[in-house]
Amino acid sequence: MILFGLTHLAMQVPLFKGGFRGISLGLTDSIESLSFLYVQNPPVSPFKKGDCGSPIYCILLFVILNTMFLSHSIVLIGFMASGKSHVARLISKHFDAPVIDLDARIEAACGSSIARVFAERGEKYFREKEAETLKQVLQETAQKPSVIATGGGVVTNEANRNLLQQAAKDGVAVIYLRATPETLAKRIRQEPGKRPLIDGDKIRNMEETQERVKVLLEGRRAFYESCADIIIDTNHNDASNVAAEIVERLDTN
Ligand code: S3P
Repeated sequence: MILFGLTHLAMQVPLFKGGFRGISLGLTDSIESLSFLYVQNPPVSPFKKGDCGSPIYCILLFVILNTMFLSHSIVLIGFMASGKSHVARLISKHFDAPVIDLDARIEAACGSSIARVFAERGEKYFREKEAETLKQVLQETAQKPSVIATGGGVVTNEANRNLLQQAAKDGVAVIYLRATPETLAKRIRQEPGKRPLIDGDKIRNMEETQERVKVLLEGRRAFYESCADIIIDTNHNDASNVAAEIVERLDTN
């Protein structure tokens, strides 16, 4: 009774809605059918016969059933300000997996912000660092499933696209967070000075920002689509809804 009450409660929490993406136990069924199985055939445990109904047994079972397993890494791609870093943090919390932000790695390695790296060393240098970092991170996470947020321009490099496409073949979920130029421009303008490719050369008004985003996005759209095995529309969704949708899509994919 308590068990079903608790599992039912878990189903109400949006981030739990997707159920399991399981590995070690092959947990692909829903919470309810799993808990049913457990009740029918309780695992060998230190509990005495009859303990099944006790609150402590139910709580332990609840904790075990709600431990999400990330079997492969998740890589988020998408234009600047599509929400990759924020959504990556939410998903990593959900799966209790490490989160890696490529831009943050590059900033730490260079000892300065992305905007300064662009201004002082140029885009070519940044792209080399980005390619190097992506390669390292994909290697490093092959044995340690993680949630990876990339920079918006990672797909402009052919070698990076090949790496992402190979990773997807190896089971990594490459997810494209898509948004319109209007939405992206609005969000970009909320963090002025952060995106050198948008406002590095001059201060742009809304119309000019939108135009710049449109041009860049047109040149990249096909690249994002060619690398992604899941596309999520982020226009009308906040980060937690996007994260919940990703968890759900991973489970049903
Ligand atoms: C870039 C996106 C940025 C950052 C750099 C270049 C791009 O990351 O890597 O400014 O070319 O789209 P975000 O997508 O996190 O803004």
